[in-house]
Amino acid sequence: MVMILALLATAVATAMRAQGPAPQPTPPEQTVPEQTVPEQTVEVTAERFTFQPSEITVPVGTTLKVVLKSDDTTHGFRIKGEGVNVQIPKRGRGTITATFTPTKAGKYTFECSRICGAGHGFMRGTIVVVEPGSETK
Ligand code: CUA
Repeated sequence: MVMILALLATAVATAMRAQGPAPQPTPPEQTVPEQTVPEQTVEVTAERFTFQPSEITVPVGTTLKVVLKSDDTTHGFRIKGEGVNVQIPKRGRGTITATFTPTKAGKYTFECSRICGAGHGFMRGTIVVVEPGSETK
């Protein structure tokens, strides 16, 4: 009798497991390596004359969403040679999202694309694109 009860319990547990796990909520920022939809969101603040952070690391094939806001005037965000160029609204006017899906590993330079003062030419940063699974940061 005890054996039968134990078997029944096992059968019920197996049936429950077969329904599959509950859907997992998506974390807002870093994606987990096992996830099937590779997407990474990074918030970047522009301010005379820097981007913060100024270095972003993303795996090849992951869609990078850069959510940009300004802490002072209007700036721009251009990824050189990649056809990405958006205008960042000035402080208090919200954000703009630039989307970039790199297909090759390497370093990509981004820079401010709107004249914003004497240090405009220094407003730049780097997107480091790495092979999937080799992220160190
Ligand atoms: Cu910021 Cu030009």
